[in-house]
Amino acid sequence: MSDKELISNKLIAAISPLAPALSEEKIHALLEIPKDTAKGDFAFPVFLLAKELHKAPPLIASELAAQIDATGFEKVEAAGSYINFFLDKSATATAVIRDIMSHGTHFGDSDEGKNQNVPIDMSAPNIAKPFSIGHLRSTVIGDSLSKIYRKRGYNTIRINHLGDWGKQFGLLITAYKHWGNAETITANPIDELLKLYVRVNAEAKENPEIDEEGRSWFLKMEQGDAEALRIWRWFSDVSLIEFNRIYTKLGVTFEFFMGESFYSDKMDAVVDDLKNKNLLHESRGAMVVDLDEYNLNPGMITKSDGATLYMTRDLTTAHYRKRTFNFAKAIYVIGGEQTYYLQQMMAVLKKADFAWANDMIHIPFGMVTQDGRKFSTRQGHVVKLETTLDEAVERALTQINEKNSDLPHKEEIAEAVGVGAVKFYDLKTDRLNGYDFNLDEMVSFEGETGPYVQYAYARIQSILRKANYWPKAITELPISTPDAWEIIKLLQSFPAIVARAAEKYEPSIIAKFSINLAQSFNKYYAHVHIMDQDAELDARLALIASTATVLKEALRLLGVEAPEQM
Ligand code: ARG
Repeated sequence: MSDKELISNKLIAAISPLAPALSEEKIHALLEIPKDTAKGDFAFPVFLLAKELHKAPPLIASELAAQIDATGFEKVEAAGSYINFFLDKSATATAVIRDIMSHGTHFGDSDEGKNQNVPIDMSAPNIAKPFSIGHLRSTVIGDSLSKIYRKRGYNTIRINHLGDWGKQFGLLITAYKHWGNAETITANPIDELLKLYVRVNAEAKENPEIDEEGRSWFLKMEQGDAEALRIWRWFSDVSLIEFNRIYTKLGVTFEFFMGESFYSDKMDAVVDDLKNKNLLHESRGAMVVDLDEYNLNPGMITKSDGATLYMTRDLTTAHYRKRTFNFAKAIYVIGGEQTYYLQQMMAVLKKADFAWANDMIHIPFGMVTQDGRKFSTRQGHVVKLETTLDEAVERALTQINEKNSDLPHKEEIAEAVGVGAVKFYDLKTDRLNGYDFNLDEMVSFEGETGPYVQYAYARIQSILRKANYWPKAITELPISTPDAWEIIKLLQSFPAIVARAAEKYEPSIIAKFSINLAQSFNKYYAHVHIMDQDAELDARLALIASTATVLKEALRLLGVEAPEQM
C-alpha cells in the first residue's frame, strides 16, 4: 500500500462516521502533497466538512487530528484548516533505499502492459530530402516513449515509416532526367537531390508539361516500370546512407523499418473495402470519403488518374499494423502540423467501422525555431543535423578539457555528452511547446541541461569509487537533514513519475524529474560531508548510490547515456 493510500484509509476511518456523505474517493482526491516540507509530506484540507459538521475548519482539523492513529508516522498534527501528516523519515528512507538496491535500474518497472503490443510510428524522414529538425523531435520523443512504455511492460515496436513514395519522386525523376548528374549526386546525395527537388517544383508551377511528366513518372513507379524503380531505388539507397549515419550518432534503432513504398502493392484491398462499403464517391475525378459527421473535410483516397496518396498509404499501413501486431494502441509521433490530416485518416477508418481506429493516438509536438525563425526546406533555411550534432560534441569536448583534461576516453564521453545534450533539451521541453535551437544553452554544464544531470551522476560515481563502495544490506537509514529527505521523497516518487510520463506521453516529466534529483543531490553534497568516517557513512553512501541508480535509469528512459566519469 502506498503512503497516500495508507493515509486515506486513516482519514476515511475518522471521517466517515461523522460525514457519511463525503465519499472515500473524494477523501483520497483531496489529499495534497504540500510544496513546503515543513507542512508535512501529505496534507488534508477540511473545508469541505465545515458545512456538514457546523464547525469552524480549524476546530475540525484539531479534533480530527487527535483522533487519527499516528502509529508509523513521525507525527500527525492540525495546522489551521489542514491536517498535516509527517512520514516516519527513517522508516520511509530505509524502505525506499532497500527497494532501489534490490531492483537496481528495474526500480519502478511495472507489468501494466504485459502481452500488449504498441507500435510507435516515429522519425520517418523523406528520402532525397534533408533529415529535418522535426524528424529529430519525432525520433527522440518516439524513442523515449518506447523506453518508457517498455518499462511499463508493453512490447513496443519502433517503426520508421520512411517517406519514399509519392508524386514528388516522379518529379524528382523528371528533374534528374533533365538536369541531373549521377556523379554529383553520388558525391553529395541529399544536397544535390534537394537542389533538383527545389528546381523541379519551381518549374512545374510555371510549366504544366513538367508537372505532367512528374505525374507520369510516378504512375510508372506505381505500375512497376523498371527504369522508374531503378532510379527511385538509387535515390532511396543514397539517402539511407546519410540517414543511417544520423541514427548511429543518435544511438536510435528500429524494430521495423519500412517505407511507404512497402505498402504500394497492398492498397487495392483497402480501396476496394471502402468501395464495397459504399463510402467512396467521386469529386472532380478524385475518389473521396465524406467526413461531415466528424466535422472534417472529405478525405481524398485516390486521384483522378488513380494515383494513390499519403492518406491511401497510411490507411493501408494502419490495416497492416493491426494485422501484424494486433496492437493495444498505435502511437504516431508526428508534428502538430499534421493533426488535421491524421484526424481525417483515422476518421476514414472509423467510418469504415474499424473500431480499432479508436486505439490509434496521434502524439503531436511543437516546432523548433532558430533565432526565432522557422526552419524551412523550401526557403533553404535547413539545419544540417549531422554537422550540428558534431558541433555539440565538440563543445562538450571543450568543456571537458577545461574541467578534466586527463580524462581517459574523453572523445567517447564528449560524444555521449554532446549528443545527450541535444536530446535532453528536446525532451525536457513540454512536448507541445516548441523551443529555440541554441547549442550554447543545450551543452552548458550549468542550468537545466543534460550535461548537468550527467555530471551529477558522474560525481556520485567518483565519490563511490573513492569510498570503495560496495552495496551492503541496510537495516536503518538515519535521515538527519532536510536535503537528504528531499532526495528520499524524489526517489520514492520515481515509479509514479514513470507512470505519469507514460499516461501523458510526456518524456519531459522524466527529464524534469532528473533535473530535480540532480539539483537535490548537489544541494546535499554542498551541505554534508559524505565521506566523514562516522556511523552514518554507510547510510550516506547508500543514499547517493541509490540516487545514481535512479538518475541513470531516468537518463536511459530519455535515450541519454550516463558516463561514469566526466
Ligand atoms: N514522412 C512524413 C513527413 O516527413 C512523416 C510520416 C509520419 N508517419 C505517418 N505514418 N504518416 O512529413
